[in-house]
Order: sequence, then C-alpha cells, then structure tokens
Amino acid sequence: MGTEMHGIIFLELQKYVVGMLGNDAWNQLMNKAGVKQKIYLCSEVYPDQEILALVAALSKSTGESAPALLEDFGKFIVPALFKMYRVLIKPEWKTLDVIEHAEETIHKVVRIKNPGALPPALKCTRTGPGEIVINYKSPRRLCSLAKGIAQGLAAHFNERISINEKTCMLKNADSCSISIKLEKH
Ligand code: HEM
Repeated sequence: MGTEMHGIIFLELQKYVVGMLGNDAWNQLMNKAGVKQKIYLCSEVYPDQEILALVAALSKSTGESAPALLEDFGKFIVPALFKMYRVLIKPEWKTLDVIEHAEETIHKVVRIKNPGALPPALKCTRTGPGEIVINYKSPRRLCSLAKGIAQGLAAHFNERISINEKTCMLKNADSCSISIKLEKH
C-alpha cells in the first residue's frame, strides 16, 4: 500500500484541468486514469497512486510531459495554498522565506491535521540572502511540483527567480537538489 495525499491537491488538480480543458475533460480523465469517479474533498486524503495516474493520463491526452504539467500545476496551486494556510505565513515573508519555512511551519501542520497525508521532507539551506537550496526527497518524486510552487510564490510576491535543479530523483539521484536564486530587478 502506498501513502495518501491531502484532498486539496486533488481538488485543485480538478480546477486546473477544468480550467484548461473544460468540465467533461475531468470526468474523462478519471476514467482514463482508471480512478473511480468521485468528488474529491479537502477534508479527506486519497491514495498517491491516484494523483500520479491522473497526471500520467493528462500527459497522455495533452502531449505535455508529466514534469511540465506538474510544474505548471504548482504555479496554479499557490493562491489556494495561501488561502487555506494564510495564518501560517508571516506577513513579512517573501518567496525564499516561504520556501525556507515550508517544512517546519506549513508541512508540519499538514501532517498533524491530516495524519494520512505525507508532505515531503524539504531540507532547505539558505546559502546567502539571495539563494536557497532545497533538498527534496519523496517516494512520490514530485520535484516538478516544488519548482512550480516556487514560481507561483515568486509571481505572488512579484519577484523574479531562477531555478536550477542540480540533482534529480527522476534522473536516478537519491534526492533532488534545487537551487532557487532571487534575480535582481
Ligand atoms: C503556501 C505554502 C504551502 C502549503 C500550504 C503547502 C501545502 C502542501 C500540502 C497540503 C501538500 C499535500 C501533502 C500531503 O498530503 O502529503 C503539499 C505537498 C507538497 N508540497 Fe507543499 N505547501 C506549501 C509550500 C511548499 C513549498 C514552498 C514547496 C517547495 C518549493 C512545497 C513542496 C511540496 C511538494 C513537492 C509536495 C508534494 C508531496 C510529496 O512530494 O511528497 N510546498 N504541500
């Protein structure tokens, strides 16, 4: 048995797909992915396998690679994450600060509130005022989602970043090492 993931990710994926391809596309996608038709709820958790199957099916029907879709979806999901967990985000935080604190503040709460959910262990190193390096290790191998979330944060704070993934689990590394650099305006 695999682990389970927070319903907000599924709900937002549904919104993302409906926005891109229309209402029918979501139902068709559940069928194509071999996922039982259901209404995903924010208060529930669902098997990881389902999100991976849905993204794989979306990749097949759009011709976009799964990592490209996950990155785009990561950008899309940031406003919803902010809305749901606004109390955890300090008003003075910007892109790199949110990333730096995602693990011990935000993901930690996700774990306590949803015992079934398994957010990733992100280990962040602030290598300077303008750079953070994320070490990501998860059996879900969703580093592209992390990269997309970073871009979504930058868009939210009106900052510019450059992303450089130095090692990647999708390329058989043990973990992903993702450098996020703040660009000067
Ligand atoms: C607004 C702040 C954030 C919120 C509210 C948030 C919330 C969540 C939630 C609810 C999940 C689903 C976890 C589960 O059910 O196991 C998740 C997963 C994830 N989050 Fe965050 N997160 C935030 C910031 C970040 C940041 C800054 C990153 C990295 C740049 C990140 C990377 C990920 C990844 C990669 C996953 C996929 C799970 C996995 O690979 O195991 N998150 N997050």
